Amino acid sequence: MKILSIETSCDETSAAVIDYTQNQTPQVLSVVTSTSLAVHQKTGGIIPENAARAQVEYILPVITQALSDAFNSQSHEKAMAFSLLEKEIDYIAVTQGPGLIGSLLVGVETAKTLSYIYNKPLIPVNHLLAHIYANFLSPKLPINPFPFIGLIVSGGHTDLLVFTSHTEFKWIGGTRDDAAGEALDKIGRVLNLPYPAGPEIEKQALKATLKNIQFSRPLLGADNFDFSFSGLKTEAVRYIKKQSSIDAQHLSEICYGIQHAVADVLVKKTIKAAEHYQCSTILLGGGVSANSYLRNHFQSICKKENLPYSVYYPELSYTLDNAAMIGAYAALNNQPQSWNAVKANPELYFK
Ligand code: KG4
Ligand code: ZN
Repeated sequence: MKILSIETSCDETSAAVIDYTQNQTPQVLSVVTSTSLAVHQKTGGIIPENAARAQVEYILPVITQALSDAFNSQSHEKAMAFSLLEKEIDYIAVTQGPGLIGSLLVGVETAKTLSYIYNKPLIPVNHLLAHIYANFLSPKLPINPFPFIGLIVSGGHTDLLVFTSHTEFKWIGGTRDDAAGEALDKIGRVLNLPYPAGPEIEKQALKATLKNIQFSRPLLGADNFDFSFSGLKTEAVRYIKKQSSIDAQHLSEICYGIQHAVADVLVKKTIKAAEHYQCSTILLGGGVSANSYLRNHFQSICKKENLPYSVYYPELSYTLDNAAMIGAYAALNNQPQSWNAVKANPELYFK
């Protein structure tokens, strides 16, 4: 079965074609992503109206290109691409939420229109679950990894879930205030780092030599699976504002300290959840899971403490917002709805 998938929850406009055969790893035939990041870098963050305007501009070219690439068509004409859609595609999948309403509407209404015109069943997808399902695009992940713990760490969310099957999962904890990515982005702004600051903090931290600036690890010892990053953010911002000047080495050490504190809480709480729910597999997803310090910290704590967990993270290209992960989720949770029942839902969370 072939799925055309569409992702427009925030500042990326992405379309992909996924080919899926039962009990096999979903194959990405194409994925095309445009981003309006440059616009948001000028404003130091995302202005929703700007993101939505860019979605309108990019959506048709991105879908056209994804269809042409998937079927090796030499022509990038819209008419040719849509005749490929009509002939070759079995389902359309789209991010329903959460996200920015203006951005979501562009993808959802486009998908609904195509579903109606070409009579293709429409599969609405939760963006956050799709971040975890980016892992299913890798042949390294066993076909049946259940039960597993999913850790979603994105710009807007930090959540822990236990999955017992593709259709059954339970939310066990999340952030009480800022998401991990949000805290990194806000601290980065005070450090004058470009938006989004997560990858910049990672780059700077690599240059640290002393590594002795410590920040607190909120809720680490608490008897729950919740997170809180706003205290850590305030502590870091206060520390930064107290300095009369910050040279390059000092900057890298601050970044290392912040990254280490965030990673330490994420890793230790996730391992605690895996122990509690007796899961031997952990799947990470979301933009912050691109962070190599976080990835290595999982491996090094498991190794140091001789823990039996297998930790997976998506391929880097499927870690940030992309439509391939939306197609992967739709392939493995094939639950189409009538096109006129599907509505963009910026507040969509976990049922
Ligand atoms: O999942 P995502 O692309 O968008 C949302 O759904 O929110 O995540 C974006 C977040 C931003 O906060 C960004 O700073 C963070 O992911 N991020 C990183 C890295 N790459 C992206 N954080 C730390 N290290 C990275 N390498
Ligand atoms: Zn995302």
